[in-house]
Amino acid sequence: MENTETPVTVIGLGLMGQALAVAFLKAGHPTTVWNRTTSKADRLVAEGARLAPTVADALAASSLTILCVTDYRAVYELLGGSENDLAGTTLINLTSGSSAQAREAARWAAQRGAHYLDGAIMAIPPAIGTAEAVILHSGPQPDFDAHKPALDALGTVTYLGADHGLASLYDVAGLAMMWSVLNAWLHGTALLRTAGVDAATYAPFARQIAAGVAEWLPGYAEQIDNGSFPAEVSALETDARAMAHLIEESEAVGVNVELPRLIKAMADRAIAAGHGGEQYPVLIEEFGKPRSA
Ligand SMILES: NC(=O)c1ccc[n+]([C@@H]2O[C@H](COP(=O)([O-])OP(=O)(O)OC[C@H]3O[C@@H](n4cnc5c(N)ncnc54)[C@H](OP(=O)(O)O)[C@@H]3O)[C@@H](O)[C@H]2O)c1
Repeated sequence: MENTETPVTVIGLGLMGQALAVAFLKAGHPTTVWNRTTSKADRLVAEGARLAPTVADALAASSLTILCVTDYRAVYELLGGSENDLAGTTLINLTSGSSAQAREAARWAAQRGAHYLDGAIMAIPPAIGTAEAVILHSGPQPDFDAHKPALDALGTVTYLGADHGLASLYDVAGLAMMWSVLNAWLHGTALLRTAGVDAATYAPFARQIAAGVAEWLPGYAEQIDNGSFPAEVSALETDARAMAHLIEESEAVGVNVELPRLIKAMADRAIAAGHGGEQYPVLIEEFGKPRSA
């Protein structure tokens, strides 16, 4: 079991990497750091970190190395040199990337004898080290379990499953959710501002709607997983009529209609495919294929 005396290495000391290293130091872990631009380690060294002279030295200093650099290309550039012995070490790559990049990096690491977990940070640097910072991990569970006590210093660390691509996929799924909620709110705010209602007045109302809709998710997820969409509350064709109303009202008051038009076009395709009498989550079939299909 790891405890707060477990040595850890952090490679990549940008805004996020520095926050990760600070959290390990605060939790009492002997922390070795390395960064291409050495000066970014100054503050950390003042706080007790050890600056490794080379990547190879940084890797050798701890059995657990956290990577947090701009992209996967930088990861390969950093670790690819023959002087870097990865055998037996555990790499946790918190660099943002795609699910395919994560799976490829896992294969690359396995060929070099390393244990590999891919991760995604759903937080900004100031939140690191607090429960607010959700950090997702995917890859072999024994590797996650072995290092969770050390990782706990970073925030709320979560394990998603053995497929290395899962952390990246959850990451982008979260972004899709975030922007959809924000865009819907912005559209509504634009509509109301035409009548002199300010954003702050609408925000609590919008928040209540978002929370109410969120309550529907478990039941709708069940319909999707069962592949059966009985219209228990309303049929898609009823929703499509309300979408038309939203577009007309938006046009009438002179606000942007791109978003509701996009959604109505998807609903219209589902209705044309015979799903008009089914419930809204039947649109998963439209979301689940490329537009051109
Ligand atoms: N900041 C956030 O709020 C946030 C939130 C979630 C996830 N992330 C992810 O965390 C990762 C790091 O983000 P950041 O905000 O720390 O970025 P950043 O401040 O721009 O730092 C980038 C880091 O990558 C290093 N790097 C880039 N290319 C390199 C190369 N070819 N060889 C060696 N090192 C290289 C930089 O080294 P130098 O210092 O020498 O340039 C620096 O340490 C990204 O994948 C980002 O998407 C960030």
